[in-house]
Amino acid sequence: MDVAETRNLTEKSLPWRVSNNLAAWYLVAASSDIAEGQIRPASLGSREIVLFRTKGRIHALDPHCSHMGAKLCQGKIDGEHLVCPLHGWRYSGNGEVAGGMGRIRSWPVQETLGGILVFNGPKPLYAPPAHQPEFRWGGAASTLIDAPWFALTANAFDTHHYEAVHRRKLLEPPTLEHTDRYLFSCSYLSQVTGGHFSDRVMQYLAPRGIRVTMTCYGGPLFTVHSILDDRQASLMVGMEPVGDQTRLRLLVGSQGGKLTALIARYLYTSFLRSDLKPMSGVRLQPFTGLEVDAVIERFARYLESLPEAE
Ligand code: FES
Ligand SMILES: [Fe+2]
Repeated sequence: MDVAETRNLTEKSLPWRVSNNLAAWYLVAASSDIAEGQIRPASLGSREIVLFRTKGRIHALDPHCSHMGAKLCQGKIDGEHLVCPLHGWRYSGNGEVAGGMGRIRSWPVQETLGGILVFNGPKPLYAPPAHQPEFRWGGAASTLIDAPWFALTANAFDTHHYEAVHRRKLLEPPTLEHTDRYLFSCSYLSQVTGGHFSDRVMQYLAPRGIRVTMTCYGGPLFTVHSILDDRQASLMVGMEPVGDQTRLRLLVGSQGGKLTALIARYLYTSFLRSDLKPMSGVRLQPFTGLEVDAVIERFARYLESLPEAE
């Protein structure tokens, strides 16, 4: 297929969409956002939930009381219970009301890689990213971006744009793995070609190139593991759909002290900042039929195959 045919095809196509409400793990907050005894509202796909922490554990419930619908995020914590602000019904972490007065929906929660992950369904369909004890994790940013979540996730797996936008040259073809329905990973070795300050730092830290493995966990969550010579760092990116925009949450894991953590955050955020302009307002159409776009096409088919939440 030549470029002219491809352009016609793109113009005729409907805008590409993936549901804002997948049955997936969502990164709803950083672990440090909710201290013991605190309550916070949060979003899960296209719904609202309430989070609270008691005895060290985070729980996720429907946001409204089953009695008369008061907002539970206005309540308080008493022992192991979330207490409704209006008439004092007491909710356990599993959504049960004390005294057999019924229950509301609860959601599976896992804390890993410095983040609070909530599964948008009654039972997790797959495991979230495994804990990496060798890294110290810290929140890097939470930003609202003018692009839908699926376009931003697909952009990460669009190896074709690395050179134009990120000043990275692939030194070998990327390796894709999609052996599990919910997981998709892409590994590559790249060399930094740009002259920005962050590029020079990368060239100094990794003169022989950077080995990167990106793994998407069911759509709106992916990790990036980077090996630079004898150093390693990791990034977890969570996407919260806000209509056709996205709230992006980043957590960075690094080995060593505070300075290493600062450098790792700086390098990851500099890399991602380059995407802001080209992705702002994008109406992504990943199915061009061109050989150079084969990776994003496969990734987009994977995103389309993921199940929607009930
Ligand atoms: S509305 Fe919650 S106890 Fe009445
Ligand atoms: Fe990018």
